[in-house]
Amino acid sequence: MKLQSLRRAASVTLAAASLVIGGAVSGRTADGSGHTDGSGQANGSDQRAAAAPVLRDLAAAKGIYYGTAVTASKLTGTYGTIVGEQFDSITPGNEMKWGSVEPTRGSFNWSGADAVVNYAEAHAQKVRGHTLVWHSQLPNWVSNGSWTADTLRTVMTDHIATEAGRYQGRIDHWDVVNEPFNEDGTRRQSVFQTAIGDSYIADALRAARAADPAAKLYVNDYNVEGVNAKSTALYNLVKSLKEQGVPIDGVGLQAHLILGQVPSTLQANIQRFADLGVDVAITELDIRTTVPPTTAQLAQQKAEYKAVTAACVAVSRCEGVTVWGFTDSDSWIPDVFPGYGAATPYDENFQPKPAYYGIAEALGWTDGGTNPPAGACAVTYTVQSQWNTGFTAQVTIRNTSTAAVNGWTLAWSWPAGQSVTQAWNATVTQSGSAVSAANAGYNAAIAPGASVTFGFNGSWSGGNTAPTAFTLNGTACTVS
Ligand code: G3I
Repeated sequence: MKLQSLRRAASVTLAAASLVIGGAVSGRTADGSGHTDGSGQANGSDQRAAAAPVLRDLAAAKGIYYGTAVTASKLTGTYGTIVGEQFDSITPGNEMKWGSVEPTRGSFNWSGADAVVNYAEAHAQKVRGHTLVWHSQLPNWVSNGSWTADTLRTVMTDHIATEAGRYQGRIDHWDVVNEPFNEDGTRRQSVFQTAIGDSYIADALRAARAADPAAKLYVNDYNVEGVNAKSTALYNLVKSLKEQGVPIDGVGLQAHLILGQVPSTLQANIQRFADLGVDVAITELDIRTTVPPTTAQLAQQKAEYKAVTAACVAVSRCEGVTVWGFTDSDSWIPDVFPGYGAATPYDENFQPKPAYYGIAEALGWTDGGTNPPAGACAVTYTVQSQWNTGFTAQVTIRNTSTAAVNGWTLAWSWPAGQSVTQAWNATVTQSGSAVSAANAGYNAAIAPGASVTFGFNGSWSGGNTAPTAFTLNGTACTVS
């Protein structure tokens, strides 16, 4: 515990130092894009709202890291800029999995994994290596091989030696073993469990320690966020590994959550692992909702991102939180859970959602009046005229708070495939169904009680249902 406190104190000092150098966080934008000003806020040169908090700095001041899963091929443009500015840990979503790096035996492809590690080093970020031993995304030659315990153990430990060895000293945390349990707490019958038996986890951890002594070694699983049969099995595994002297440094709670179902025992569960003598991380956080989300759902999602982040902050051995994709345009949810999505803190157009501000608030940020409190803006959306494939709409934003809004971005999603073709009194951009309307120079300020109105022409086919939810600078508005 003492060491932990020291580590946290050191983090705070470093965070403070990095903020002072040059009066900016420019060291965090090694891509040279210069998307920060002296306050560490977005400078408006891309599509994001001004006055965004910087999650990595807020997290550092709380002694944790804030991370995101990334797709290596997307680490450019606005996506890359946000990853570099906002997060101080990255996890390759797929690029370090066995099937990605050794699709055929003895033939390696490190391009994606190398790109992620290089990006992290250029942006002063930690890397969560994900993952060395997992039943899924295995190459066929492993999953369909005919193995004895000895032959598969050798193949597994060779794989760990090769991959963890390649990145020795450059990976902060390795998810050495991923998803070893069934929901009832019994062992999943993976090829490793079946051929090698229970000891494969200890074998994998020892091989990882030998390959990269500095990396913190984790076992990672889903549906282990609350106290339940599966997390208790994980608890008992860690206890037994520690008793045997097997190197295990932490447990990863993936946290693929459903809106309204954050376990009430989350913090207690983190604490019981900490009390066992291991670190904990939230490794794959997302909170899915039905789509399109309503204003109320976005507000609830904000509260839940805040609660999960706060649970990590509250336990000193919780090292950090990683979101599984920071933008809805890079999330696995819509592919796997039809009808669900909107699970991440940024929308598909890289606009911060209420969830993003929930994270920031859990990390101690307050908006200083730039962003109205929830419900403190009211949006009126009116279709003024409509013809066979087109329509004209008008949107009025009223500031119902007592603080002035200085610069605004109104975001919404089209429910029926509409598309904005031309706008006035705002700059409107659209990506997929996600729309964001940013103020013009002359209507950036909205005084308390005042309104601004902008309009646009759009195209539609099939239906022209009105959007049900709007956010102003990431805060949900009431809709009339
Ligand atoms: O790369 C191919 C592409 O060439 C092809 O055209 C396309 C067609 O479907 O598939 C692409 O591969 C997909 C890959 O993601 C990259 O996008 C796979 O089909 C798809 O199955 C794979 O899904 C990944 C999933 O793990 C596989 O189980 C997700 O991106 C990834 O986010 C997800 O991550 C897992 C964690 O590793 C462990 N915990 C659960 C989490 C969510 O499933």
